[in-house]
Amino acid sequence: MAAKLEGKIALITGAAQGIGLAVATRYAAEGATVVLADIDGDAAQAAAENIGGSASAITADAGDEGQTAALIAEIVDQHGGLDIAVANAGVALVAPAVGMSLEDWRKVTSINLDGVFLTLTHAAGAMAASGGGALITIASVSGQAGSPLIGAYASAKAGAINLTQTIAVEMRDHGIRANAICPGFIDTDMVKPHKQTFADALGLEAMGIPDFDAFIGMKQGRYGKETEVAALATFLAGDRAGFCTAGVYNLDGGLRAGLL
Ligand SMILES: NC(=O)c1ccc[n+]([C@@H]2O[C@H](COP(=O)([O-])OP(=O)(O)OC[C@H]3O[C@@H](n4cnc5c(N)ncnc54)[C@H](O)[C@@H]3O)[C@@H](O)[C@H]2O)c1
Repeated sequence: MAAKLEGKIALITGAAQGIGLAVATRYAAEGATVVLADIDGDAAQAAAENIGGSASAITADAGDEGQTAALIAEIVDQHGGLDIAVANAGVALVAPAVGMSLEDWRKVTSINLDGVFLTLTHAAGAMAASGGGALITIASVSGQAGSPLIGAYASAKAGAINLTQTIAVEMRDHGIRANAICPGFIDTDMVKPHKQTFADALGLEAMGIPDFDAFIGMKQGRYGKETEVAALATFLAGDRAGFCTAGVYNLDGGLRAGLL
């Protein structure tokens, strides 16, 4: 079978590790030329070398408009266009919303919402100039429900989902599709340091649930894999998803749907 993304130029933000790295790796395997952007330029460079082929890395803070605009201009300049952009860069903060400082709120929303806005709007501008493309936002199921302890994160994800759908409708006539992927818990470095905090706050021990991993097993069967997010992101980026736009795709083992 032909590779799904042959000849496409793809930008993935926050691609040095975790979900972004899995997406970049899969896109490259499907024939795309991938550009891994990350605030940690050394890690992105090492990741691009590991992928090999035409993969390359650029240091860029997804929350900085000048850096994001320059990143996209450089890709268009070097590769002649941009076909796929994945707004994946994100940070987590585990703390109640009540009592949170505005500074902490903005640490999260400036990347998880403002950063998504910057990537999508600048990428859409470049894509519109060359006939279209695919935008993908790595949002979260937390953006679809009240989410104690991760209120800033979840509020930014809710905004990112809405923004993705808005841009999808605004840009439909320019040949640009935009979709949001909403993973449940994936066992990356974003989650690992916070397991005990979640366990304590949820009172798992008192409920006889040994730890957060066991709780996740109850709620979504198991942790999702980065490669499973990458598989959906590959479908949504490719021509087979030609009628898919403004979609919100949950990938969460049933977490969002289960009441009890
Ligand atoms: N892990 C999960 O359970 C989960 C669930 C739902 C959604 N997500 C989302 O998936 C995306 C990737 O998360 P992950 O789990 O792979 O996290 P991760 O912490 O493993 O990786 C995040 C990457 O983003 C980079 N990054 C952070 N701030 C940046 C910035 N300002 N500019 C550019 N790069 C930046 C980091 O250096 C890192 O390489 C995030 O948007 C996250 O919110 C994760």
